[in-house]
Amino acid sequence: MSENPRRPNRFTHWLASLAGKTDRPAVLVKALGKRDRRRMLKHFLALDTSDRLLRFGTVLPDEQIHAYVNKIDFSRDIVFGVFSHVFQLVGVGHLAFGPAQAGRSADTSKERVAEFGVSVSASARGQGVGTRLFRRASIHCRNSDIDTLYMQCLSTNRTMMHIAKKAGMEIKREYGEADAYLHLPPPSPGSVMREALEEQFAVIDYTVKANARAAVKWFTPRKREK
Ligand SMILES: CC(C)(COP(=O)(O)OP(=O)(O)OC[C@H]1O[C@@H](n2cnc3c(N)ncnc32)[C@H](O)[C@@H]1OP(=O)(O)O)[C@@H](O)C(=O)NCCC(=O)NCCS
Repeated sequence: MSENPRRPNRFTHWLASLAGKTDRPAVLVKALGKRDRRRMLKHFLALDTSDRLLRFGTVLPDEQIHAYVNKIDFSRDIVFGVFSHVFQLVGVGHLAFGPAQAGRSADTSKERVAEFGVSVSASARGQGVGTRLFRRASIHCRNSDIDTLYMQCLSTNRTMMHIAKKAGMEIKREYGEADAYLHLPPPSPGSVMREALEEQFAVIDYTVKANARAAVKWFTPRKREK
């Protein structure tokens, strides 16, 4: 089954039509919580070895992916997700917060910086999901009074380098790795409103898709055990 997150359901089509963009329905990004751990695990386990290398900087075996997902602290970090029309989690962006470190944190005046890691399922790539996750992460940092968003990736990762450059990130390359920094302006009433609205729309979209999925399961006749 196709996992195109841009295939419109009625709600996203309505949203897009409000924005006058019926040809390009919105990709909605939602904050994930503990109850999404199982879906996150499924998403990460489906990444092949080269994607795991690009995402984590090493080819994480399945057990370490389990450990990584179980250890995500939702009270400290924030994880964003994009769901396809069949309620599959096709994009995950993890925004981890930590103390600013001298030399690494590219002249920040704040005590904390944020580091972003992202992955999109192979079936949903090239449709703006990665870009939207990155944008949501940057607006969230801005609204959390963080002025530096940091991202580490392999310098051979052309797609991510393209997204970073497009966002205006400053990129420092060393030994095959690239450190990219985005300096963010302070929050504004507009940036706070934008994030709140996006989250509201994404929550409604999530609920519609989850209920549709539950209804399909409910009405699908179960195979009788022989
Ligand atoms: C990197 C990744 C997240 C991108 O996700 P995505 O949803 O396909 O990204 P988008 O569709 O938003 O954007 C892709 C952009 O890269 C461009 N692109 C694709 N392949 C490219 C290449 N080989 N060279 C340069 N640009 C490329 C696309 O044209 C598009 O640009 P545009 O928006 O200006 O048209 C996804 O490929 C992935 O999960 N890769 C494996 C994990 C990874 O690399 N994570 C990043 C480490 S933090």
